[in-house]
Amino acid sequence: MNFWYNLPQPFFVLAPMEDVTDTVFRQVVARAGRPDVFVTEFMNVSGFTHPTGRESVARRLKYASSEQPIVAQIWGNRPDDFAQTAHEIAQMDFAGIDINMGCPDKAVVRSGGGAALIQNPELASEIIDAVKRVAQKKRLPISVKTRVGFSRADEWRGWLTTLLEQDLDALTVHLRTRREMSRVPAHRELIPDIVKLRDKVAPHAKLIINGDIRDRTDGLKLADENTGVDGLMIGRGVFANPFCFEPYPRQHDRAELIELLKYHLDLFDTHGDARKFEPLKKFFKIYINNFPGAADLRAKLMTAKNTDTARQIIKEVIK
Ligand SMILES: Cc1cc2nc3c(=O)[nH]c(=O)nc-3n(C[C@H](O)[C@H](O)[C@H](O)COP(=O)(O)O)c2cc1C
Repeated sequence: MNFWYNLPQPFFVLAPMEDVTDTVFRQVVARAGRPDVFVTEFMNVSGFTHPTGRESVARRLKYASSEQPIVAQIWGNRPDDFAQTAHEIAQMDFAGIDINMGCPDKAVVRSGGGAALIQNPELASEIIDAVKRVAQKKRLPISVKTRVGFSRADEWRGWLTTLLEQDLDALTVHLRTRREMSRVPAHRELIPDIVKLRDKVAPHAKLIINGDIRDRTDGLKLADENTGVDGLMIGRGVFANPFCFEPYPRQHDRAELIELLKYHLDLFDTHGDARKFEPLKKFFKIYINNFPGAADLRAKLMTAKNTDTARQIIKEVIK
């Protein structure tokens, strides 16, 4: 079954964010306010198909059943590696496969993957074909996440036409170019023309808009103003408000935010890598924010050495 056709209109997607939206954080977001679709952090296909590289990247495919429907996002530059990876993903109960064609990272672009594919439409089509050949046998839907252009926003028409001609099930458009990174406001003015293009070239393909959408209310307004947008993807909005997907937005007090942090710590103990406690600290400011005493508590939490000392610090401060 193609899950893209079984979603509310419009639907909401939690954006893939490397080193942020792992299974632990996705489960936290699911509890705070559930999006309709999850996506894994992107995983490199050449690492995955390499005998010694596999272990370090395969952890990105971990997910919990509560995250369904979840799409596996992959990136790379070799169609054969994409095909082999897609073959394995097809055995894993993912709802779909998404191909990253928008990552602006220098190393990724230099390797010919991510946003570099915007400048190499022949290879982009070969990659989609390679994944499609495998995924269609398993009836696994395929989507692409990309940007409007590499250097200039007016590249969008040619590039998105190429993608829409590939018979994708869904297309996510981050409304910035690679050159713009995340430094300028998203080009929302392009949405009506992108919708028209999708309607003309691939009317069945779901169109998901991404870039600077703060929360569900903001996303609903965008969809309301732009008939034909099927889905809204939110990334950094979750940093400002972990409850950003909740259907009935309201203020959340200190107790609720701390509860969510404790849930994150518990999930980390179950699913995370205990040796990697330091990177966990970047999440603290998501929860310990916007209430009196938050800065003090955050400073104390930054001294924690593991999840137990973090819990102890919270207990002492809120007793
Ligand atoms: C820390 C971080 C990591 C990201 N990692 C990925 C990734 O793995 N795959 C991907 O397609 N996009 C990735 N992105 C881009 C986001 O998915 C999204 O397109 C971008 O943040 C714009 O959306 P926003 O304005 O809602 O944040 C990442 C963004 C951030 C901030």
